[in-house]
Amino acid sequence: MSVTPRWSRKKSHFPLLAVLLLAFITCSILYNEFSIQQIHESPDHGSTPTSPQTSFTYVKPNLPNGASEVLDRFSSCNSTRNYSGKKIQWVDPGTESGRRRSARQESCDVFSGKWVFDNQSYPLYKESDCPYMSDQLACHKHGRSDLQYQYWRWQPHNCNLKRWNVTEMWEKLRGKRLMFVGDSLNRGQWISMVCLLQSVIPADKKSMTPNAQLTIFRAEEYNATVEFLWAPLLVESNSDDPVNHRLSERIIRPDSVLKHSSQWEHADILIFNSYLWWRQGPVKLLWSSEENGNCEELDGLGAMELAMGAWADWVASKVIPQKKRVFFVTTSPTHFWKHLQEYGAPTPIVTNVYIAPRM
Ligand SMILES: *[C@@H]1O[C@H](CO)[C@@H](O)[C@H](O)[C@H]1NC(C)=O
Ligand SMILES: *[C@@H]1O[C@H](CO)[C@@H](O)[C@H](O)[C@H]1NC(C)=O
Ligand SMILES: *[C@@H]1O[C@H](CO)[C@@H](O)[C@H](O)[C@H]1NC(C)=O
Ligand SMILES: *[C@@H]1O[C@H](CO)[C@@H](O)[C@H](O)[C@H]1NC(C)=O
Ligand SMILES: *[C@@H]1O[C@H](CO)[C@@H](O)[C@H](O)[C@H]1NC(C)=O
Repeated sequence: MSVTPRWSRKKSHFPLLAVLLLAFITCSILYNEFSIQQIHESPDHGSTPTSPQTSFTYVKPNLPNGASEVLDRFSSCNSTRNYSGKKIQWVDPGTESGRRRSARQESCDVFSGKWVFDNQSYPLYKESDCPYMSDQLACHKHGRSDLQYQYWRWQPHNCNLKRWNVTEMWEKLRGKRLMFVGDSLNRGQWISMVCLLQSVIPADKKSMTPNAQLTIFRAEEYNATVEFLWAPLLVESNSDDPVNHRLSERIIRPDSVLKHSSQWEHADILIFNSYLWWRQGPVKLLWSSEENGNCEELDGLGAMELAMGAWADWVASKVIPQKKRVFFVTTSPTHFWKHLQEYGAPTPIVTNVYIAPRM
């Protein structure tokens, strides 16, 4: 893939990732025998030490009863000290039904495969045909001439995925809520999914709500929605405003995954992602029990581990695998070509998919 100066701008290769990852997720949803527990805990930290802390104390997640002050983009810490070693632990995790494993057998490992060039059946939609395509993602419209990125298809090593069929997909989604939760990477996934699906729905039978923290595409005939929830750090944070979220100081409530979970808990298929927002310097932790704005500070990946722990505990204790599908899309390269040049072509994107329950 060639690199032109125009593309060295932030976010410019984004739709490539969106297309690749989306294709993968879509195939996973469509694939009938799909039932895999592929768990990659603790993303590769390289040599970054998370924290010098060795002993931990456990706190319960806070309850969304309005007891603690809302964290928003105007929040600030009154003081900051080092991380105390507190972690989140859900109530009685061992006994919850969510721990049950799906009994179905896996017949093919759809996670083991490669991207293949396929200009016969791809692309699955044209950017210009999608009324919901956002300007931020519209590469073609803004002059990108190399459109080869649209022609890649995921090919598992030991089986074939079904061909994309939009009516079959809608039948799968009938009466369901499909929700993407996370940052701009997942926003791209969501838009792509909407673009893939919307073409067969007449204009008066589909709608899109205005951009908000939760944005919803609805298809009336199917009583189905495809939604996106902006929650870049998964837990409650001062970056949760869907428009004004680029703040110099990152503050999270590590024990509050619940604030957002009230919005996602009724979705039938959930696709989470989070990563890049943890790579922007140290993170301030404002525990719900701290009433005076006293924060703790932890490096980004240590804070991510903490938040992922809270999130994984939510999944393990609240998700009934027979009723809900949960995916987690991890590590994306940063939105810079430079990064790609340093770390290689985007083909080996690692999509670690986490499916409830945690073991
Ligand atoms: C925080 O930890 C660092 C490294 O262990 C130490 O140098 C620093 O003095 C600590 N700061 C506070 C406020 O305890
Ligand atoms: C597919 O790509 C091959 C190799 O680049 C090219 O020869 C062929 O014409 C393309 N076919 C279509 C339908 O675009
Ligand atoms: C998609 O699936 C429907 C229903 O199974 C079928 O009637 C239709 O022919 C399929 N379309 C394509 C392009 O395969
Ligand atoms: C539509 O789907 C929702 C679930 O998302 C369900 O609760 C509701 O009963 C459905 N309505 C109809 C008319 O099928
Ligand atoms: C910081 O301290 C002031 C004064 O004690 C208090 O009014 C304010 O609520 C505190 N900030 C936070 C975020 O708790």
